[in-house]
Amino acid sequence: GWKAEKGEKVYLRRHTGNFHEVSLVRPEDVEPGGFETVFPFRESERNDEHALVAALKRADAPVMLIRMRPNQAITKRAGQEDFNYGDLYAYSKICTHLGCPTSLFEQQTGLLLCPCHQSQFDVFEYAKPRFGPATRPLPQLPITVDEEGYLVARSDFIEAVGPAFWERKS
Ligand code: FES
Repeated sequence: GWKAEKGEKVYLRRHTGNFHEVSLVRPEDVEPGGFETVFPFRESERNDEHALVAALKRADAPVMLIRMRPNQAITKRAGQEDFNYGDLYAYSKICTHLGCPTSLFEQQTGLLLCPCHQSQFDVFEYAKPRFGPATRPLPQLPITVDEEGYLVARSDFIEAVGPAFWERKS
């Protein structure tokens, strides 16, 4: 996991192909109906090449950043606070079935698809499973923007990432 120390900033970066290049994301970088894969890393890792590479390789790191269309009806989980930033929603990309990366977002249906065993997650409804063997929603990552307008995580994922058999640190 990448849980930050209290008060430490957790940025979201794109993977540009260059492990050492840090490309941060602003809300306007994602078009309405569009999505992008981003990776959280801690502020303290920014000036440490090895830590930066390790952050990109963390198994639970990939995040699907999705921008809903304006006026898109979103159903959140009962009793749950808002973890989105405007039209932007961030979910773990790691399928809760066996841990494959979900790969495709269908903007018409709001379904995120996992290619391994065809699970489908409904991002119009807190990424709960709609079809296939996955039984748990994709964990959401609470996001906001910092004073420079870059997207940052507000905290760790709201639930454990990946399949239940993954080892967890307590
Ligand atoms: Fe995603 Fe099996 S790992 S459906």
